Amino acid sequence: MSKLITLQEFILKNEADYSFATGELSRLLSDIAVASKIVSRDIRKAGLVDHIIGAQGGQNIQGEEQQKLDVIADITFIKAFEQGGEVCGIASEENENFVAFKSEKSKNGKYVVLFDPLDGSSNIDVNVSIGTIFSIYKRLSPIGNEATIEDMLQPGTEQIVAGYVLYGSSTMLVYTTGNGVNGFTLDPSIGEFCLSHPDMKMPEIGRLYAMNEGNIFECEKGLSDYIKYCQSRENQTGMPYSGRYIGSLVADFHRNLIKGGIYIYPDVLSAPEGKLRLLYECNPLAFIAEQAGGLASTGRKRILDIKPERLHQRVPYYVGSKLMVEKVMQFIEATENK
Ligand code: AHG
Ligand code: MN
Ligand code: MN
Repeated sequence: MSKLITLQEFILKNEADYSFATGELSRLLSDIAVASKIVSRDIRKAGLVDHIIGAQGGQNIQGEEQQKLDVIADITFIKAFEQGGEVCGIASEENENFVAFKSEKSKNGKYVVLFDPLDGSSNIDVNVSIGTIFSIYKRLSPIGNEATIEDMLQPGTEQIVAGYVLYGSSTMLVYTTGNGVNGFTLDPSIGEFCLSHPDMKMPEIGRLYAMNEGNIFECEKGLSDYIKYCQSRENQTGMPYSGRYIGSLVADFHRNLIKGGIYIYPDVLSAPEGKLRLLYECNPLAFIAEQAGGLASTGRKRILDIKPERLHQRVPYYVGSKLMVEKVMQFIEATENK
């Protein structure tokens, strides 16, 4: 049997990866691992315990109905970051404004974290995979002060760590520090994330496309032409692709990372800027996609280059296998030049 490598061992062994190698980032990653184990435990009980499943009875800032688990996950991660002391502030989907931590220890924290505590919340009640997505930046404001909005609004190219946790048939944590992508599976019997997917690479092309096709008449012609192309034998593989849409971005992304494919959430009439949020959904997965050899685009330009203007800013999102993202961009460009 090959040697079991726990996430903890892996983090310590690779500390030298970060150009500014410090124990603090390692501790922050460990805090994320612990918080995600707590959330994973709660999710596994969701069908049994009344205070975990169902609607919270309120809306978040984006007008979406909050589920109890959205709030539980948000509080769990915020507590981990606040108590850990490595982070001076956070922004999350569930909070209108960013949160600047007040303790002296936190004010000395070097990092900010932006996260989607629970992604795919409409899938909670029906026992379908959901996730957490996170992005870590070095703060821009001076150490010793409270976090500022400028710390939060950095372009994706400045991310130093990005990752996600998938609460699927098993719980997995996948992350990058800009030096490849590694995946860890939670062994519930020992309570440890263990290296199961070293150096993940996204196939250059796949045969899966993921889009909410209920929106097909609401999107631009270049995209609907591309979807027809996916369904035809004229595509890059000579066989119709399979449609797969879970409705949890993390789960759709993870499948495509392993098998090859494209995920699309375009701008549509009902969501003219797209639905997905740049800072805590699109950027972290874009960083992982690029690190695994894939691409992430608005359909016109690279996601990671966007200079964010607002915390909850939305963008059209095309992410996945390199040749597939390039192809859909060609379709969009072709209709624009007509
Ligand atoms: P969240 O649950 O964090 O609000 O995100 C939901 C997102 C994403 O996970 C998913 O791919 C997409 O919304 C699904 O939207 P549609 O139901 O419009 O397809
Ligand atoms: Mn989400
Ligand atoms: Mn969410």
